[in-house]
Amino acid sequence: MRILLFSGKGGVGKTSLAAATGVRLASLGYRTLVMSVDPAHSLADSFDFGSDLFTRRTADPCRLDERLYIQEVNIQAEIKRHWREVSSYVMSVLRTTGLTDVEAEELAILPGMEELSAMMYVNQYRREGRYDVVVLDCAPTAESLRFISMPTTLEWYMKHIFPVQRTVMKAVRPIANKVAPVELPPDSYFANVRQLFDRLSGVEHLLEDPSVTSVRLVTNPERVVLRETQRAFVYFSLHGLTVDTIIVNRVLPPDAAVGYFKEWQHTQDQVNKEIEDYFSPIPVRKVPLFRDEVLGRARLEEVAQALYGPDEDPSALVRTERPYTFEKRPDGRYQVKIALPFATKAEVELFKKGDELVVEVGTLRRHIGLPTSMAALKPTRARLDHGTLTVILEDSHE
Ligand SMILES: Nc1ncnc2c1ncn2[C@@H]1O[C@H](COP(=O)(O)OP(=O)(O)O)[C@@H](O)[C@H]1O
Ligand SMILES: [Mg+2]
Repeated sequence: MRILLFSGKGGVGKTSLAAATGVRLASLGYRTLVMSVDPAHSLADSFDFGSDLFTRRTADPCRLDERLYIQEVNIQAEIKRHWREVSSYVMSVLRTTGLTDVEAEELAILPGMEELSAMMYVNQYRREGRYDVVVLDCAPTAESLRFISMPTTLEWYMKHIFPVQRTVMKAVRPIANKVAPVELPPDSYFANVRQLFDRLSGVEHLLEDPSVTSVRLVTNPERVVLRETQRAFVYFSLHGLTVDTIIVNRVLPPDAAVGYFKEWQHTQDQVNKEIEDYFSPIPVRKVPLFRDEVLGRARLEEVAQALYGPDEDPSALVRTERPYTFEKRPDGRYQVKIALPFATKAEVELFKKGDELVVEVGTLRRHIGLPTSMAALKPTRARLDHGTLTVILEDSHE
């Protein structure tokens, strides 16, 4: 099973491009599911599905044609299915603070529940072999990052906190329930958490495997959007996911870039060049701004045509090489490894600018955004070996 993950800033066109990709995949014969993980669902609308404004029909995979399904992860439905014990415990705690049932129910939706639910489905569909490709239409960048970091966070919780909490609870509950105003979690809560964890097991390996999961970052040719795309790129890389394509959506076609829009074209041209430089050698694709909203099957096919040409397969592997990796070494230093397949030692220049590591190879420049934990460090040593540049970063005071 292939997983194609569409992420990017709000409104850049993730849903439209994910839906168009689904249309193309299904027409190529793949059993395809397009799954929306954005609480502000618009996937069904994008297909002009004609359902109610707040439909629950799409909470399960909904068949659009022979091989194409859509699903919009619905948190209310998920709570009933998967989170019953966790949320009923949280609700019981919230009720003691004087909230009404309905209020408690609303607040018992914890951040991450939606993302985790989606992740469970991905894992389940992979196990069942139900689909050939799952296209994930993610929430805007910040939430998508929570989505991808969730399995590791949860794993940490399960390893370090969960066993302790559980044992402690067993011992203190009989006494604590008598004196504490808030009831402690019952055993069923822990059973629920464990069950959820089991359902998620292995999903992080799927996400980190570049032959399974490819991230397609959607951006617009505007500076502010580009900045967010760059950050997303760094963080996806940091989480071990492989971004294999950058899609620039809403590029002004030349015949539209006149009069009122002239300055837009100038900006777009500049930003497009920056995008190519920054992300090279990751392929950049462009999709024009269409005459009208992208709505309904026919329009989505046009988008697919613009994105993939007449017959390209969106699930084909584009890049399986991770662009760079960040590691903490056993000696406590940090290192960044960057694939520089075409460089020789004399051509490589290296310096730090703000929270970015800038690598120059001849006239080519690559900005590498450092994760927060490494941003204050200074590069002290670099080595180029078999096409890989290894940079050691250390605290500058030492
Ligand atoms: N290339 C395009 N040309 C014209 N309209 C577009 C294009 N891409 C997206 N849109 C429109 O922009 C709006 C936002 O797109 P959407 O795919 O919902 O963005 P996102 O999912 O990133 O929030 C929608 O109304 C969509 O029809
Ligand atoms: Mg969307």
